[in-house]
Amino acid sequence: MIHLAVLISGRGSNMIYLADAIKDYNIAAKITVVISNRCCAGITLAKDRGFPTRVIEPKDFDTRAEHEAAIAAAIYDHRSKYVFLAGYMAILSGDFVNQFAGRIINIHPSLLPAFKGLNTHQRAIDKNVSTHGVSVHLVTAKLDDGPLIAQASLPVIASDTADSLAARVLELEHQIYPFVLFGLAKKLLSLSPKGVLWSAPSNALADAPAPMQDFLAQCLIWPSPTS
Ligand code: GRF
Repeated sequence: MIHLAVLISGRGSNMIYLADAIKDYNIAAKITVVISNRCCAGITLAKDRGFPTRVIEPKDFDTRAEHEAAIAAAIYDHRSKYVFLAGYMAILSGDFVNQFAGRIINIHPSLLPAFKGLNTHQRAIDKNVSTHGVSVHLVTAKLDDGPLIAQASLPVIASDTADSLAARVLELEHQIYPFVLFGLAKKLLSLSPKGVLWSAPSNALADAPAPMQDFLAQCLIWPSPTS
């Protein structure tokens, strides 16, 4: 059973899709705690679902190290092995990240290494790219830079605005993050401080629940093995 903490800062839709996938597809995983660095809609949703929640705000601590230590303590208190960042809007220090090396994962709305950081959709439009998408990756001390776990892509269309593109990328996010959790729970995916290894990627998708499989078959990009 995979025990995961989900860290959020906003509306929490990826957290909800993870929660729904666990339930709908009987994934052997449990969200042990939802942690946010601010009061936000996602925390209300998490409470409604009955998940333990913690709002741990930087303003209540003297230093960033103390704030992060409180977050780490909440993760340990709730016996979470994995940490899924799902719209957590703060940069985590190397010290924090390193204590979860190989167990902390992020979802980022671009095809990394393109468009690290914020405003990815507008930047994709400004750059006139023809393809955009989402990446799930291991988190390392460098921003949006760890080994890729999976990506999914879509074509940018001429009429796209940042908002329309964000909405379509979000649909990819809502399928790919649960798929990664599925892979982890089924031991088709192994993560370690050294990197990412999918055993037989095509089988991993073939094993996935049908709706996930149908959706991702057209857009999933496998990473090159890194461990
Ligand atoms: C998503 O676009 C995610 O990729 C990014 O922040 C957004 C969070 O959305 N890191 P939500 O809070 O999960 O709805």
